[in-house]
Amino acid sequence: MQEALIDKVSDSDLGALVKEDRVHTSLYNDEHIFKLEMEKIFGRTWVWVAHESEVPNPGDFVTTHVGLQPAIVVRDKRGTVHVHLNRCRHRAATVCEARKGNAKGFVCPYHGWSYAQDGSMLGVPLPKGYSSDFDKADYALVSLRVESYAGLIFATFNDEAPSLDEFLGRAKPWIDLFMKQGGGYPVGTSGEHKFRFPGNWKIQLENTTDAYHFPIVHKSFLNSLDAQAEELFSFLDGDGFVEDLGNGHSVMVMIPELVDLEENLDAPIPERFKELAEELAADYSDEEVRRIVRAVGGSGFNLNLFPNLACSMAFFRVLRPVSVEETEIRHIAITMDGGPEAANRKRLRLHEHFQGPMGFGSPDDAEAWERVQRGSKAGPDMWIMLNRGTDGDGNGPGGVNRGDVSAETGMRAAYDMWKRMMTA
Ligand code: FES
Ligand SMILES: [Fe+2]
Repeated sequence: MQEALIDKVSDSDLGALVKEDRVHTSLYNDEHIFKLEMEKIFGRTWVWVAHESEVPNPGDFVTTHVGLQPAIVVRDKRGTVHVHLNRCRHRAATVCEARKGNAKGFVCPYHGWSYAQDGSMLGVPLPKGYSSDFDKADYALVSLRVESYAGLIFATFNDEAPSLDEFLGRAKPWIDLFMKQGGGYPVGTSGEHKFRFPGNWKIQLENTTDAYHFPIVHKSFLNSLDAQAEELFSFLDGDGFVEDLGNGHSVMVMIPELVDLEENLDAPIPERFKELAEELAADYSDEEVRRIVRAVGGSGFNLNLFPNLACSMAFFRVLRPVSVEETEIRHIAITMDGGPEAANRKRLRLHEHFQGPMGFGSPDDAEAWERVQRGSKAGPDMWIMLNRGTDGDGNGPGGVNRGDVSAETGMRAAYDMWKRMMTA
């Protein structure tokens, strides 16, 4: 566990900034709160670091961050995945700058201290210059605790955190449903694109569970669709819902008929997938074509895993806090690993259409997030309202919080967890 660095804001002050139906704007722009978040949230809970398809073979690695700290996710020669801090034990230089690759180990570029895939120290140049009690065992890279579920790899600094299984809890069945996008193949990942926006990380956390903005901000996207797809994406008056899954996680079901991609395989093939279905029909049975085509369109829901991963229709959206007013977003498109090239190509085209840098979705979202940040810091006297759909709180199956698709139930779930962690 990381040591507490600062303790200026009392628990009661922090708790007062999050009420049941609103949070204070200082949560977006107070430097001190941001530092506490890095310590009390990103320093203590499970943080998503990679999908296993990004490191399939021994020696494969990706670099990432856990909170503000650079980290390396690497698979060792025995197949175990490790997460090490990307900080040399000599004078803290990052030992790896590549975004991904394959390596037998890591050699620091400054003075050449070297580390094995499992983080243990291999050696130092000119060892005779150190006293006889210099022990390599004292200088391994700092390693985090690692656990994974359904291909999602998480790491934590906290040895006392509950197991990942317990942490994910009621989110697990939704992860299983999300992974049906493999269409009979394992879920893989294609490349990613990343961008930064000048705003606090929680603005993005809220967004993945915000259906309310969809027809407003994404009007140009809706206008770019054929009539059938436009109807599908006009889901605000449908039967969708948002459910609090506990521990800050939530699911927002936009298109209920696309929750389980292995059901309704005999439903008519939508217009926008007809060409793909015809292409696949040359090599695959009718049932396989239907399963693949249905999976290509993605799940009909967004699953928000607190604090940094959204499994959003057909891609992973990963957030990384950079500073109180800056956040990095990565969009990682999902593929069918070993699946038909035509299906994966169609996936990417759909991804680009909404999420891509020139797409009809993300650039519009980013503009809205930037405006929230700008307005939120313009004065001290405002609250961020999260009171849409409070009637559903406690009224879902088994007494869970569940509101209709445009309810702000998911945001309240995230801020409830935020409050618990920040005042613990
Ligand atoms: S900082 Fe890494 S070897 Fe000196
Ligand atoms: Fe959006």
